[in-house]
Amino acid sequence: MKVTVIGAGNVGATCADVIAYRQLADELVLLDIKEGFAEGKMLDIYQTSSLLGFKTKLTGTTNDYSKSKDSDVVVITSGLPRKPGMTREELIGTNASIVKTVCENVLKHSPNAIIIIVSNPMDTMTYLALQATGLPKNRIIGMGGILDSARFKGYLGMALETPTADIAATVIGGHGDTTMIPLTRLASVNGVPVSEFIAEPELKKIAADTMVGGATLTKLLGTSAWYAPGAAAALLVENIIRDQKRVMPCCVYLDGEYGQKDICIGVPVVIGRNGWEKIIDYKLNAEEQELFAKSADAVRNMNNVLKTL
Ligand SMILES: NC(=O)c1ccc[n+]([C@@H]2O[C@H](COP(=O)([O-])OP(=O)(O)OC[C@H]3O[C@@H](n4cnc5c(N)ncnc54)[C@H](O)[C@@H]3O)[C@@H](O)[C@H]2O)c1
Repeated sequence: MKVTVIGAGNVGATCADVIAYRQLADELVLLDIKEGFAEGKMLDIYQTSSLLGFKTKLTGTTNDYSKSKDSDVVVITSGLPRKPGMTREELIGTNASIVKTVCENVLKHSPNAIIIIVSNPMDTMTYLALQATGLPKNRIIGMGGILDSARFKGYLGMALETPTADIAATVIGGHGDTTMIPLTRLASVNGVPVSEFIAEPELKKIAADTMVGGATLTKLLGTSAWYAPGAAAALLVENIIRDQKRVMPCCVYLDGEYGQKDICIGVPVVIGRNGWEKIIDYKLNAEEQELFAKSADAVRNMNNVLKTL
């Protein structure tokens, strides 16, 4: 299995690092436009191989897409991250042209790849990638919900003082501070609804903290976070490569599911070797369905900005 990560910045390099040390691929390529940057990151990661014990073949390259030839999975993280006070949506102008060009270059050398979009605003970048490539819809997957759900589980774990591995919790909708929908009603710890242990006001605060989870980190770090985003993208790669058929919230093209059409937005999907293989059309309650419709409206408005660029 061959994986390429485009963008050797914070998220891309972290994703590559996790893929390497967990030996998810036989061959891993990291590509960046900045001269020598990806080569340097890959050399550094390679020098952890005797310490961590992996033998994945690693290649770093400055914009040479021929090195990515015949990749099975490509993760696109290239583009600007947000600075404190910025929304993900403000990145659209710059990142749209980067994502479009990158997708075209990727497909020239890896026509059969499954493409994971990480660059923000991720829902709109996923929609753009689908339009720009004309690929079958199951081969373009936006990563946002896996990260947002990990943050949701993190805040629940802190409140419950429970290992996050025992918590099941999902965030659907857009990957934005005001568009994501933490499904509090369905969150559970070892099968018991979290509402058995956490009072309603605190649960509301956990959902609110989850929604601004990225902004909180951006404020602390001065730039967008990378450990959890990189690990979340690597987990998606793992599920594809190992054909695991796990259900994960991902940004995919909807054609009537959840009452929406012609949009890419986060919903639970089965992930396997063919990309996203099936949408799990949960029965949302009236309040959740209304939030989902509002979230889709906001994502659609952002998609419309693409027409003006
Ligand atoms: N979807 C998510 O859950 C999620 C989470 C965190 C960050 N992000 C987004 O991921 C993107 C990357 O974030 P980061 O923190 O790694 O940023 P970063 O600035 O650390 O890295 C971005 C890299 O992209 C490279 N790049 C720019 N244009 C390129 C091109 N045309 N071809 C190849 N490489 C190019 C840059 O040189 C840089 O190294 C941002 O858009 C950020 O908002 C998404």
